Amino acid sequence: MKRGKKNSDAGEPVTNPDTRIGSSEVDTVKPSLSSMKSMGLLLAVLMVASVMFSLSVVLRDPPSDDAVESVAASRVLQLRFHQANESDGEESEKKEHLVPGLDKESCLSRYEASLYRKESTFKQSSYLEARFKRYQDLHRRCGPFTSSYNSTLDKLKLGDRSDWGVSGCSYVIWLNSDGELGSRMLSLASAFLYALLTKRVLLVEQGVEMADLFCEPFPHTSWFLPSEFPLNEQSLLRHLVLDSTDQQKLFFCEEGQALLKETPWLILKADSYFVPSLFSISSFEQELEKLFPVKETVFYFLGQHLFHPANVVWGLITRYYSAYLARADQRIGIHIEVSGTTNLVEQILACGVRHELLPEVDKERHLPSSQVLNRKSKAVFVSSSSPGYYFESIRDVYWENPTVTGEVISVHRPSHKEYQKTQRNMESRRAWTEIYLLSCSDVLMVTSPWSSLVEVAHGLGGLKPWVLNETDHDSFCTRARSMEPCSQKPGSHGCKILRDE
Ligand SMILES: *[C@@H]1O[C@H](CO)[C@@H](O)[C@H](O)[C@H]1NC(C)=O
Ligand SMILES: *[C@@H]1O[C@H](CO)[C@@H](O)[C@H](O)[C@H]1NC(C)=O
Ligand SMILES: *[C@@H]1O[C@H](CO)[C@@H](O)[C@H](O)[C@H]1NC(C)=O
Repeated sequence: MKRGKKNSDAGEPVTNPDTRIGSSEVDTVKPSLSSMKSMGLLLAVLMVASVMFSLSVVLRDPPSDDAVESVAASRVLQLRFHQANESDGEESEKKEHLVPGLDKESCLSRYEASLYRKESTFKQSSYLEARFKRYQDLHRRCGPFTSSYNSTLDKLKLGDRSDWGVSGCSYVIWLNSDGELGSRMLSLASAFLYALLTKRVLLVEQGVEMADLFCEPFPHTSWFLPSEFPLNEQSLLRHLVLDSTDQQKLFFCEEGQALLKETPWLILKADSYFVPSLFSISSFEQELEKLFPVKETVFYFLGQHLFHPANVVWGLITRYYSAYLARADQRIGIHIEVSGTTNLVEQILACGVRHELLPEVDKERHLPSSQVLNRKSKAVFVSSSSPGYYFESIRDVYWENPTVTGEVISVHRPSHKEYQKTQRNMESRRAWTEIYLLSCSDVLMVTSPWSSLVEVAHGLGGLKPWVLNETDHDSFCTRARSMEPCSQKPGSHGCKILRDE
């Protein structure tokens, strides 16, 4: 599984010159406001990315087979679900079931998620709820193959720049990057917030696996960009590519945003969580405060709205959860990203004991735990890109020794076979499964916060993880201050006004 370290000095794009958009293929201009304006843009391509790839790499055939496969899988589940007594469901479930345009069987996770996650103390503001609702209406009106979409697209094809605003529809097209699943989810959530703020419709490039991993989030419509969209017709789309750090900074300026208002199609490819930079744009500030009175809940609510595991992934999640985690009194998620530290396992256990997350073991008395009454159980779920050593060490500690409290600790980890290249979507399904299972933990412990998988997991679960801290020898770990993803240093994309030289 690809889980590279986050580039912690964010803001410096790591650009591979071979895979970058060649300037021969597209029009690039000097990043000045006046020249941007004089282009009379039809379309702007924005890259808020640490890694970039050319458009030709991005374009692949839509995975029609996979979609069929997951529909087939859902039919099987559909039968089983209908046998259940519908009126057993909770009040909220019944209410959600009435949402027209979202049928239950095609996306079970949307209705069953509350069985696996603790209810959050955070409630979405009624303003946010109303905005989501308004967004859904807009998406339905402007979504793929509606007459508004067709006419906006026709204008693009004809190079007609007049009155594009008549249909009232403008779009932000999110391109799949080749990054890890976690990074893609972070950037997609950011793009959705941008769409909400600018009243654009978010269209997602399907790529090979998006439909395999996620349900459609919006009723009566699709969030997938139709494959007919002329993304690769360079002659048609005259691009303005913002691909340097400085040019990206222009995007996060008031002036840049004002200019983009005039362009109906905005293509965006990003590899990071750029929400913090949206907070730096003053025209969005007030709206953001109303949407998210508690700032650390941004990803939590966006994520809950957007990311519902598709049925095939939901099966992986729920079967694993039922088999290994469901019966425990408490679930502890541990994500191990191997670093230079040698005594990682000792530190994890010490952190757990110090903060009463995990019990101490009794290495002296070897009291059989059958002697202890009222046993409680904890299930530890280990997610790690490394070979089995760390997982086995933790498991063996709790197998070879009783705990002083008498608690029973079981330690689990999904098997890690080396998957062939042909099974790339299986790899992503497993990554999504691990993210989801971690997000269902009661307590989350991570060796490093710089992993997009970890960020999505704690962001979705509304969890503040405990993070191992090599320098703090008293507590061994410190609790993260926020549940928001943290990969981006604040201000690393902040507004920077560029003037003509
Ligand atoms: C379904 O649930 C309702 C109310 O809880 C109950 O009255 C009814 O008998 C149940 N039906 C079946 C088939 O279990
Ligand atoms: C939009 O165009 C597509 C084909 O390009 C067509 O199938 C569809 O019916 C059109 N939608 C409307 C509302 O006319
Ligand atoms: C480690 O702990 C020290 C002291 O509690 C704290 O100042 C520092 O920020 C922590 N480092 C990390 C990476 O959390």
